[in-house]
Formats: sequence, C-alpha cells, structure tokens
Amino acid sequence: MSAPDPSLLDPSALEAARDEALAAFAALPSLDELPAARTAHLGDRSPIALARRALGTLPTADRADAGKRVNVVLQAVQAAFDARRVELEADRDARVLVEEAVDVTVLPGRLPVGARHPLTTLQERIADVFVAMGWEVAEGPEVEHEWFNFDALNFGGDHPAREMQDTLFVAPEGSGLVLRTHTSPVQVRSMLTRELPIYVVCPGRTFRADALDATHSPVFSQVEGLCVAEGITMAHLRGTLDHFAAAMFGEGMRTRLRPSYFPFTEPSAELDLQCFECRGVSAEPGGEPCRVCSSEGWIEWGGCGMVNPAVLRACGVDPERYSGFAFGMGIERTLMFRHGVTDIRDFYEGDQRFTLPFGMEA
Ligand code: DAH
Repeated sequence: MSAPDPSLLDPSALEAARDEALAAFAALPSLDELPAARTAHLGDRSPIALARRALGTLPTADRADAGKRVNVVLQAVQAAFDARRVELEADRDARVLVEEAVDVTVLPGRLPVGARHPLTTLQERIADVFVAMGWEVAEGPEVEHEWFNFDALNFGGDHPAREMQDTLFVAPEGSGLVLRTHTSPVQVRSMLTRELPIYVVCPGRTFRADALDATHSPVFSQVEGLCVAEGITMAHLRGTLDHFAAAMFGEGMRTRLRPSYFPFTEPSAELDLQCFECRGVSAEPGGEPCRVCSSEGWIEWGGCGMVNPAVLRACGVDPERYSGFAFGMGIERTLMFRHGVTDIRDFYEGDQRFTLPFGMEA
C-alpha cells in the first residue's frame, strides 16, 4: 500500500472528494450500482478513508482540526449515500407495484374440458335402456362377410341392396367382404354363438355408398335389437318398441307400425313416431302444414318385424319351437329427432361448438 498522502487532508481536496461522491450518488440509476459506489466513495480505498489514514502524518497540533474536517466530509458523504439509497428503494418499490400488479378481475385461463361425442353417449344410453330389461350388448365386425351381411339374412343373390351403388365392397374383388351396410349381421352372429333365449341390443357403425349431404352419410350408426325365445309374438315387439320410444323421447310419444318389407323379417313393419314438431296436428283437418313430417303427422324411425323363419334356420334355430322379433334404428336419426338437429354432417365435422352442449348431458 502506498504511503499516506497528507495533501488529501487539504480542505479543497476533501471538498473535491465530497462533491465527487455526492455527484456519483445522485447519478446512480438503480439500486444495483449502489454497492460499487459505496466501495468507491466510502470504502477502505476511498479518498476519504485514505485522508483519514494520512492524519497520523500531521503534526499533533494540526490533527484535531484536520480530523474534524475529515469527519464532517465523511458524515456528509454517508448521509448523501443513505438518502440516495432510500430514494432508490422507493423508486424500486413503486416500479414493482406497477410491474408486478395482479389484476384479480381477469378471468383465469381454464384448460378446456372435453366432451364425449353425442353418438357415443346416445349409444350407451340406448344400451342402458335394454340392459335394464335384462338384455345383453352384442357386437360384430365393421368389415363383415357377405354371408352375414346378406345371405344369412335371406337377401337373394340378385337383391338390389347388394349392388355397388349401395354397398361398399372390400378389395380385392371377390374377397366376399363388405363394410357392413347395417347392424343386422350381428343378429346372425348372436344366434350362432349364444344360447337361447337371446335378448341382445347391438349399437354400431355402418357404411353405405351414399354421398354426404344434410340427411345422408356414407358412415352412420345403427342400433339393432333381437329377441329369440319360445312364444314371442308381435305384441312383445310392440311393447318393447313403445318402451324404447318413451325412453328416448319421453312418456306419451305415440308410435305406429306400418306394413313394410325386409327379407329378414316376416311380417315386416316400419316404426313411425308421432311427429315431434306438430304432434300429428298437421295431418288433422284444418291443421297447419308441417315441414318436418310433410303434414303426414308421423315420421319414420326404423324397421322391425318378426324374424323370418328362413333366418332362424340359417342360424341353426328351430322355427317350429322358437320365434323372435328384431328392429333396427339409425342413431343419427334418433339424435336428430331428440335434439332438433337438421344437418347430419354436424355429427362428423368435429366442431366442439356442436358437440360440447351434448357433453353436458348427465
Ligand atoms: N337393417 C335394416 C336397415 O338397415 C333395418 C332393420 C329393419 C333392422 C327391420 C331390423 C329389422 O332388425 O327387423 O334398413
């Protein structure tokens, strides 16, 4: 360390050191620079500390005065330093209050909650209705053999449903495989694999060579029902379907069976629901016309009938002893009736604004 320099004790030198320190403190931009400024102007190697050290070199008579001068300057510099620190701390606190302010009125960013698809929830709801009556849920493959999809269901070899414009065939040609055009082949699979009596409900996806428009889709869903036991009559079919309709659309929803034809049922019927829009009023004399049912008063929900003995036989069931009924409905159609959905494409486009409200259903 260099020898103490008595010139540092000159009043002008001490004032210069003080002024320099005060100017440096005043110019400090933030608290971060404070420690360095303290070292420079109040530390062991600062001009004031060095001046104090030089006191010993003075004649004894001069020491008291010089000592006082050093102390006055030191106190002034220390006071300026403390005052600047208080100022800078206040600045920082004010800035932090603004920068780190929390707006407690801002809505929290919630993770979007997903919803199950209405086609899935309705299929489960339908299954529940039947399981509650002791029925079982059965499934079959979506890529199905023609024998299950057509032959065993009594479709003749030249039935128009087998043609390209209705059925999606699986390559290569002659593979015998199709995308199932309905859930009815699950009836055949159930009869071949289950013990009698049989009570099964089979929801699932089905495929047809249809162009996508507001009421058609090449991929859609059906639910099939099959009951085979001793002594089954059309009255059982009727009662089951009325219960199903009430579970879907509410008590008091009227149904009607209208004669029809399906190769796998005899007799066959279309199941109509009373129009949910006009409740049948449009078909009465003087009733307002109804768009939904074309003023018929009824809308078609699905097909049904007594299982054709030829089908029972193909599945190894004795038609002399057993009889059965079957039905099949479109799931999309059911949802459209239940919820007033007018465009079937809404079910497949994956727009959450459509599916979310269904997800709120219990
Ligand atoms: N499979 C028929 C279809 O896709 C619907 C159907 C009609 C199913 C009558 C049945 C039935 O089980 O008995 O149009």
